[in-house]
Amino acid sequence: MSSLSRRHFFSAAAGIAAVAARPRTLFAQAPPTTPAAPAPTGPFVVPPLPYPTNAFEPHIDARTMEIHHDKHHGAYVANLNNLAKTNPQLGTNAVPDILGNLNALNDDIRFAVRNNLGGHANHTMFWEIMGPDGGKPEGEVLAAIDRDLGGLEKFQTDFNAAGGRQFGSGWVFVTVTKDGKLAIETRPNQDSPIMDGKRALLGNDVWEHAYYLHYQNRRPDYLKAWWNTVNWSKVAERYAAAKAGTLGV
Ligand SMILES: [Fe+2]
Repeated sequence: MSSLSRRHFFSAAAGIAAVAARPRTLFAQAPPTTPAAPAPTGPFVVPPLPYPTNAFEPHIDARTMEIHHDKHHGAYVANLNNLAKTNPQLGTNAVPDILGNLNALNDDIRFAVRNNLGGHANHTMFWEIMGPDGGKPEGEVLAAIDRDLGGLEKFQTDFNAAGGRQFGSGWVFVTVTKDGKLAIETRPNQDSPIMDGKRALLGNDVWEHAYYLHYQNRRPDYLKAWWNTVNWSKVAERYAAAKAGTLGV
């Protein structure tokens, strides 16, 4: 089991223990008329959000966060767990090793792994680099932005423009090399820079599911507002990990 999968497995196990410890009165309610679908089980787990779903109001509404995290990311994870039933190596190999070697997979699963494991990696990064009261870039990250991306203001303008130009669904990333060099790059669908041997320092999801409830067709407004959700201390941690060669997804 990869460190990512293992960490999420233990998070899930802790959640189950917490549910079991709840008072009995919680169960003294009328049973739901429709049984809930069984939760997909397997090596892949959606990482719990480290903040409430309304943490980014009014920039990202709580309902969008709920659907995005629970349903969209949840679907990628459910699909991966189904794939892992017949391809158990998916749950035991490190995610970057799989995404960086898609050609090693059998033809019948390569496309599904590309989409669903790419989606799992991208969204795991996305939830991680967001947070309330996220501060501002400083230190080494700010120095790299100044050096490679023309300063913070130009960087954010260029990043928003790249995200706006991405036709259809996809992502806009800041990629980082092991020597700390930054670049703005887009990818279609759920492709990840990991597939090209790179890493995402940060990235914004420009699929319509990330913004449509609140912003409808106004993707540029979403791209501008999203900066209010970035947790720069997490970005700094990822930058240090990228330079140390320890950044996962
Ligand atoms: Fe998404």
